[in-house]
Parts: sequence; structure tokens; C-alpha cells
Amino acid sequence: MKDLHHLSADEWDELHDPRPEITEFDRVVASAISRRGFLSGVLAIGSGAAALGTGLLSSTSARAQEAAAGVFDFKAIPAFTDGTVHVPEGYEWKVLARWGDPLFSDAEPFDPATGITLASSDKVFGENTDGMEAFVVDGRQLIAINHEYVNVDENLPQKGDAPFSAEDVTILQNLQGVTVMEIAEGAEGWQIVVDSPYNRRIHHNTPMRIAGPAAGHDMLKTTDDPEGTTVLGTLNNCGSGKTPWGTYLTCEENFNGYFGVANPEIEWSSSEGFARYGIGREGRYGYELHQARFDVSKEPNEPHRFGYVVEIDPANADAMPVKRTALGRIKHENAAATVAPDGRVVVYMGDDERGEYLYRYVSNGTYTEGGRTEGLLDDGQLYVAKFNDDMTGEWVALTPEATGMDAVEILVHTRMAASAVGATTMDRPEWVAVSDAAPMACCALTNNSNRAVKANAGGDPMPVNGPNPRPENNYGQVVRWMPENGDHAADRFGWDLYVMAGNPIVGQGDYKGSDNINEGNLFNSPDGMMFDSRGLLWIQTDGEDSNEGPYLGMGNNQMLAGDPESGEIRRFLTGPKGSEVTGLTWSADRSTMFVGIQHPGAPFPDGPDSLPRSSVVAVKRLDGGAVG
Ligand code: FEO
Ligand code: CA
Ligand code: CA
Ligand code: CA
Repeated sequence: MKDLHHLSADEWDELHDPRPEITEFDRVVASAISRRGFLSGVLAIGSGAAALGTGLLSSTSARAQEAAAGVFDFKAIPAFTDGTVHVPEGYEWKVLARWGDPLFSDAEPFDPATGITLASSDKVFGENTDGMEAFVVDGRQLIAINHEYVNVDENLPQKGDAPFSAEDVTILQNLQGVTVMEIAEGAEGWQIVVDSPYNRRIHHNTPMRIAGPAAGHDMLKTTDDPEGTTVLGTLNNCGSGKTPWGTYLTCEENFNGYFGVANPEIEWSSSEGFARYGIGREGRYGYELHQARFDVSKEPNEPHRFGYVVEIDPANADAMPVKRTALGRIKHENAAATVAPDGRVVVYMGDDERGEYLYRYVSNGTYTEGGRTEGLLDDGQLYVAKFNDDMTGEWVALTPEATGMDAVEILVHTRMAASAVGATTMDRPEWVAVSDAAPMACCALTNNSNRAVKANAGGDPMPVNGPNPRPENNYGQVVRWMPENGDHAADRFGWDLYVMAGNPIVGQGDYKGSDNINEGNLFNSPDGMMFDSRGLLWIQTDGEDSNEGPYLGMGNNQMLAGDPESGEIRRFLTGPKGSEVTGLTWSADRSTMFVGIQHPGAPFPDGPDSLPRSSVVAVKRLDGGAVG
């Protein structure tokens, strides 16, 4: 068994809270129903979508194939298993930032032997880079970027097996959260502008305001915050989003792992709400040993203050981040925002855990450029997705009438509200991407080893279903939906599977993957995803990189580009061994693509004998042309 510091979030949940098995009957019956969705779904919009008038993506015709040839401006690269980054011929990459790089000139130089000092730990680029978005403010280029979690062996190299000290905990807290930084391109490529007035670290102790319907509710009140309106920190910042008005959205994912009970001797019993979100006696990083607010036997409401989407204004380093409770409390992956034809703001959000759900928020007010944005993320309706096997689907409003819960309970125990309306259990919804080029959105369903094996954390059975058709799904897929009349605020949609990842070399049946998977573009576990300005879908992976057995030929984690028209998918970049490729944004002129390399296992980016450091790389075309 892996040591506890190296467990993924779902391995951690499985260890602490094993899920009940579902019956063989569920498995067989549902499997028979769902095969239709898989077999007809890939690249073909089913009759359901056609009936909804989405009128999109109708063909794999010669014309579409021709268009695709012009869409990709690179030659696909092979899989790699080494310790560095590869990009296609005619492209180059350089490092923009690695964890520990200074944002301010009073940070001490990084020393790999000691990791980081307490004094410098909130003045440097944080650990485990994840979602990011670029902004232009007063003509300057800024990036806001998440630091999801920590790698204790690299961040506290002298700690060994010793218990976490109070100082260890503060260092780890300072290395997570969000960085806002100014960047500029010079002779050496893109660099951080050290000491820029925009540079900022937001971490696990940064004060933030709680807004929306749950603000001030009893469930959010604590000893330190009897009003229930101010909280310290944002936890486990995974994917990102950008509002139409130019603010950053950071998403709190596996927040449960930071809470525990310090005293193993005391009696403590969990609750349905804690169990559903995986909050238990043991925290991952010893926070509960040193800070009472993370001890759920002392502060049972503190976990209700995490699991939200948080809005940050990158243009104002003094602005307090705001937790937007109207968008629900789940293990938020990312927040993909768009504007409906009538001006309402739509935000799509996945809840990344096995058998959890896909959500949508629609504002009541409307957005106009330059107009007031107050309330657009506080006053609206939250929905959950139901996918039908006939390739239609609907957004079900999470209202008190539909769920039997009150309005605030729905926002704090959102998973239970979704279970109450019988939403479709999904194979770990990671990023949602919304196209600007066509009325279409996609969600990466990364994998689900428990599909057709066990129930989800709430006991909802997980038989195979339309968009999740494969039992013990170790490869993942991308589901795509087309809203009725091209309106993301409409309540009905048509859907298909853009790709089923798989392995045509060694896989059998459904495990070979869809027709657009071949020996040249194998991958598993799609995760980060974003459409570029031309409408290409960029897919990043966070999967098994052993390159053996079922994963033979896939190599390291990678980034691929997919053409929504033809279905063609090409591999563009591979990451170093052990890393996940996650986070993607572009410079203002689109000449540079910034890509995140999280938790490299090899000594990346500084080569042999150096410490592995999560990094952001800048990818450019040698001829200076646009890259997306
Ligand atoms: Fe942080 Fe679900 O990825
Ligand atoms: Ca992810
Ligand atoms: Ca993942
Ligand atoms: Ca990750």
C-alpha cells in the first residue's frame, strides 16, 4: 500500500469510507440498457439531439475531414515515458514558474535541501499548479493560478516521518491556495514580474467573505465567526473559471481531507452530511492537531464553509475573495461560465467523485458589458443534470419542492439535494469546457473504478448509464451536450460521447475506446479541458502512466487537441513521468500557451539531481504564430 502522503483524493476517500457494493442484478440490467448510448453516441448526434433542433456537428463527411486537416497546425507527437516535456516539431517550451520561485524580492532563494522557510512560504509561487486564467489589467498581463495541494516529501524535506509541527502546517497552508502574478515576455522568454503591485498569495489563512443565500446561516457560524460571514482560506483549489466581467473563479475540491479529530481518545460520531463529503477523524496534513477550527469535534460547522466556488478580483490585490454559496457546495472541479442569449450568466460545474453529479447555475439577473455585476453569482438557480438513454437530457432545478430540503440546505448539502431528485451518477466529472465557436459544452469524466461495482458515497447505485456506459471504467470519456436552441440557459439538451478513451492495442470490447482512438493518440483519464478561440478542444490527462498492461502505449500524462467537427484527436504535449498535465491559458496575443505540470515524479524542470517541482511551462511556435 502507498504511504498516506501519496494517496490520491479518491484513494484516500476509499480507504477511510469504503463504499457499499451494488448487486449483480443492477449491473447486468443497466448494462443492457446503456450499450445503445455508447455504440451510437460517438460522433453522431442521436435522434434526441436532432429533435431538439441543436443542428450541430452532423457529420464525419469528407468536408469535415478536410476542414480538420486545416484546423490542426501541428504534427502529432508519439507517447513518451521520460522525465521531461515534449511538444511538436516547430514548437518550443520554457519554464515560466516553478513552486518556490519568488513573487517578491524579500523571499529567500529556494534551497532544495530545506524546502522553504516559514518566512518565505507566502512570498513564492505555490505548490501543485492547477487551473489558471490570464487577464489583462492596465495593459499588464496577469495570471491567476491555483495551488491545489502539497507534496509533503518535497515541501518539507526534513520532516521525514515526524508528526506535523505547527510550523509545518503553516508552511503547507501558505503553499496552497491561489497566486495572482504579473508576467512579462523578455529576451529569456516569459517571467514573473517580481514585486509587481498585482502579485498576491491567497492561502489557507486569507480572510474571505461568504456571500449568497447561505451567508450568515446557523450552519456556517463558528466560534471565530459567530456571524457566519467571514472565513479564513480557500482549500484544495483545483480547476478554474473566468467571469464575463474579468474576475477569477477558483474551485474548492477535496476540502474534506483537511479536517479531522485531534484527540484519538475522544468519542466522536460522524453525520450523514460529513459522511457524504468524506469528512472523518483523520486529516491528511495535521491541521486539526494545531488549529482548532480544523478539528470537527470542536468546530463542526467549519467544513460547511468550504467546498464552494470563490471569486477573486485579480485587478485589485487588496480585494477580499468572495465565496459564492449560490453555486452549491460540492467537490468543485472547475466553473465554466458563459452568457445565455438573454444575458443570464450560466456556470457549469462538475463534482469530482465517483458517482457524483454535473451541475449548472443560472443567474436571475442579466449581464451587460460594463453594467453592474452585483448579485449575478448570488441570486440564481442551481440545477443538476439528468441524462436519458435516448441521448436527450434535462437540467433539474434543485428547489425545496423538488428536494424536500430548504433553500440553504440545498446549497450546503448539495450532493444530498441532487440524490433526492435522482440525478445521473457520473464517472467523476472533472472540467467542463464551453465552446465560444459553437453552442456546445463538454465534461471530462475521468474514470470510475466503482462503476457497476459499488454505490456512490450517498448509497445511490451506480449501474452503467448512457454517458457512463462502461463498468469498472478505468479509462474515462468526454460527454458533450448541445443546449436546446443553442441556449445554455434552456432546460433541455441533446448529448453524445465525444470520445471514449481506451486501448485498441490490448483492450477488448468497450475497453478498446471509440473510433477516434488509435495507436497514435492513446490516453486515459481526461481531466483538464478547455476550448480555444478557434473551437478546438484541448484535453489534459491525469491518469495511470505506467505504460504497461491496460495502459500500454499511453506513456506519460499528456495534452491532446480534439476537433469537434471531425472527431480527430492529436497528441500535442507530453509531461514528465509521474506528472499530471493540468491548467491551460493563453497570452493576450495568443502567441503563447501556458500549461501546468503538476506533481512531476522525475527531477523536473531542472534536470538530474534536482528536486521535482510543479511548474508552469510556456509553449510557443518557433515562427511566432498563434497557438490557440
Ligand atoms: Fe483536482 Fe478532480 O481534480
Ligand atoms: Ca483535475
Ligand atoms: Ca484528476
Ligand atoms: Ca491533481
